[in-house]
Amino acid sequence: MTSSHRITLLAGDGIGPEIMAVARQLLDAVSRRHGFALAYDEQPMGGAAIDATGMPLPDTTLAACRAADAVLLAAIGSPRFDSLPRERRPESGLLALRAGLGLFANLRPVKIIPALIGASTLRPEVIEGVDLMVVRELTGGVYFGTPKGRVEADGQIRAFNTMAYSDFEIDRIARVGFDLARQRRGRLCSVDKANVLDVSQLWRDRVESLHGDSYADVALSHMYVDNAAMQLVRDPRQFDVLLTSNLFGDILSDEAAMLSGSIGMLPSASLGSTGPGLFEPIHGSAPDIAGQDKANPMAMVLSAAMMLRVGLQQDAAAADLEAAVDRVLTTGYRTGDLMGDGCTQLGCQAMGEQLLAAL
Ligand code: NAI
Ligand code: MG
Repeated sequence: MTSSHRITLLAGDGIGPEIMAVARQLLDAVSRRHGFALAYDEQPMGGAAIDATGMPLPDTTLAACRAADAVLLAAIGSPRFDSLPRERRPESGLLALRAGLGLFANLRPVKIIPALIGASTLRPEVIEGVDLMVVRELTGGVYFGTPKGRVEADGQIRAFNTMAYSDFEIDRIARVGFDLARQRRGRLCSVDKANVLDVSQLWRDRVESLHGDSYADVALSHMYVDNAAMQLVRDPRQFDVLLTSNLFGDILSDEAAMLSGSIGMLPSASLGSTGPGLFEPIHGSAPDIAGQDKANPMAMVLSAAMMLRVGLQQDAAAADLEAAVDRVLTTGYRTGDLMGDGCTQLGCQAMGEQLLAAL
């Protein structure tokens, strides 16, 4: 029996439609090869949705996402909407989508592709072979804790936020981290500040007890966040899966992304406990190069690969997409954002054709 997956496609704004077209061609080819079917449902989101309905995330789009097995998003955002109030801009649609799908786990893999070692600001011998995954809690912690606010008393102004996690919130993100470590190289490094923060102490206790109860086969370590920031640039190869709270992960995932030196190469996934995951490049809609056939489609293609592996359990098809990216880069083809000596520059569409041929 042929398995079939329903995917909601959100092409969005700027370079979104250009890179989505490439990803779709490759998904068609790779699904045919591996004998499964993909049923696409294209929905408006961001600027196109604002033009059509006045809202960045129409109810029909959110409903289509909820009904899918996975959601693939390119990018949203355009300076055209800068004058709108914040809740009606494209970016608010993305926050509403994350909330609407209950996406509490953000996954950002950073894998150094040998052909691109020169693109990093770090020395080749430091980043060669880096293959890590940051698992960041996305819906709790200090960004959402209450009480928060600003008060004036006794002639002083004070502002405050609350860093809080429940055992339930810690357990469910830790499980995502442990499960991923199991599928990867079997190592989980949990990042906290347990020497100072009560909330980190609970974090560490819960991760420890989950490890003992259900994940004893995973090699668990703990690291204070300040040390983790240092180790990421000193010796990033030591990491497999990094598990973090919302605030620490926000900072460390951007730091880790820069090991690769290129925003046009990095995918991400956001997952809930049930329902579809959301897969998207970490970059935005790149309005400065939109409509010029200049965008690098590789972050989008690697996001599609992540969707196949993490969202649809089609590991072999995911590996094929990743291998195609490797092969094209090794051959020396580059989009403008990655140009180096002796490389051949291609536009977005031509890069898509090379990827298809490499597949
Ligand atoms: P950006 O990521 O869109 O662009 C930053 C720089 O990187 C630009 O010079 C751009 O040309 C380049 N770039 C990005 N992706 C590229 C690719 N695939 N190939 C080649 N070059 C690429 O970030 P920026 O300029 O801060 O934001 C532009 C718009 O995107 C804004 O409206 C912002 O709100 C939105 N945005 C959306 C995100 C999303 O959809 N998840 C994430 C980040 C920003
Ligand atoms: Mg950030």
